Amino acid sequence: MNKDWMDVKEVLDDKYTGKKVNLRGWIHRTRNIGNMVFLNLRDPTGIVQVTVAKDELEEDRFEEVKSLLIESSIKVTGQVVSDQRAPDGFEVRARDVKIVHPANVFPIQEDHSVEHLLENRHLWLRSTRMRNILSIRSTVFGAIHEFFRSKGYKEFQSPIITPLACEGGATLFPVDYFDEEVYLTQSWQLYAEAAIFGLGNIYTIAPSFRAEKSKTPRHLTEFWHAEVEGLWLDNDELIELGEGLVLHIAKKVLEDDRQELENIYKDGVEYLENLEGPFPRITYEEAIDLLKKEGMEVIYGDDFGVPEEKKLTSLFDKPVFVTHYPKEIKAFYMKRDENDPTKVLGYDLMVPHVGELIGGSVRETDVDSLIARLKEEGEDPSNYEWFLDTRRYGSVPHAGYGLGIERVIMWLCNLDHIRDAIPFPRTPNRYRP
Ligand code: 4AD
Ligand code: MG
Repeated sequence: MNKDWMDVKEVLDDKYTGKKVNLRGWIHRTRNIGNMVFLNLRDPTGIVQVTVAKDELEEDRFEEVKSLLIESSIKVTGQVVSDQRAPDGFEVRARDVKIVHPANVFPIQEDHSVEHLLENRHLWLRSTRMRNILSIRSTVFGAIHEFFRSKGYKEFQSPIITPLACEGGATLFPVDYFDEEVYLTQSWQLYAEAAIFGLGNIYTIAPSFRAEKSKTPRHLTEFWHAEVEGLWLDNDELIELGEGLVLHIAKKVLEDDRQELENIYKDGVEYLENLEGPFPRITYEEAIDLLKKEGMEVIYGDDFGVPEEKKLTSLFDKPVFVTHYPKEIKAFYMKRDENDPTKVLGYDLMVPHVGELIGGSVRETDVDSLIARLKEEGEDPSNYEWFLDTRRYGSVPHAGYGLGIERVIMWLCNLDHIRDAIPFPRTPNRYRP
């Protein structure tokens, strides 16, 4: 081999049988049997078994290798042999082992509580599980950029520090800003609405913050938010834009992370392969009727929680759009339906296992309606003066949505809890490490 270092993934292939290879990585498992050490060597691409025979190394070196603990880093030169007893059908017989960095006793061993893994998240990121999920996460981010850019959307950034509530005052995170109270942003949206009248169609991927005190398996206090705002869009076009994004993400994950997905959630591959549009669309009113038929105690005007959304999505084999919610349970900026002003032109896209994945709407452009809705929400409209200006100087119809990236990952990977969809989760009782 003329290549200095190879990836573990590469050597798990017939074409290297009998060849000499150089690998470097971490000891994932180690087992001593007399004059042999069996190491599982991990690098970012996979795990391979390495056998070290006492008579291949100098006496001292063999003893050192034998005493190495898991997560020690090493370099191995050896020969690839095909061996049916090895987990992947190949193993590497070491001719030389160099110790890069011996590890202390690793705090994560076989049995571990969820809390222990969270406390040691910085080390748990080395697990195969987290590597698979974070690889899928990376693909999801790339797919979102690719989708919007391919449609001519430009990337636009809004401030993280803001004096305004976009999604209601109850979940604002206060920040002490030189003795004044400001907040961490809940959404990019209000600033995006100011920008489209100059820049045109835009999107972003950015962190959003919600001081959600309720501990649910699908809420983070800091999450990554893909948001879009488009000129002249109506609700049907906004639905297509949401469906298109979800299908594109699914396609990219199958293309780039098929194996990772299979490792995490075996049935996920088949589910995504069969996923195609159009997704069903129902109104909020129809959703209420369906839930009632299923024996759930809901009444018209209730917002949906986890149990309702789980039940609803279980009735469909695809994600489902729920449209035309009553205005009282939706944000102040949503446009009223002209045919029924008690409802708004917007939707939630719900997916099985998770519930709400996207929230979007056509935007209200009438200043007086906006002021009235802000007052109803207990907000002081004078704080929103600059935002109202966007409606005073040649506003046009526009619409947009936000998709929670960790919720997409939770859905794709069938995770029990959203915290595993992000490297360092922030929840009401955790901000470390
Ligand atoms: O429905 P939401 O609150 O809508 C907005 O923020 C709009 N301003 C978006 C827009 O129109 N530009 O949030 C959008 C999505 C939700 O559907 C959900 O997927 C995700 O963001 N989300 C959360 N994800 C994790 N943890 C939380 N606490 C979340 N809150 C919302
Ligand atoms: Mg919502």
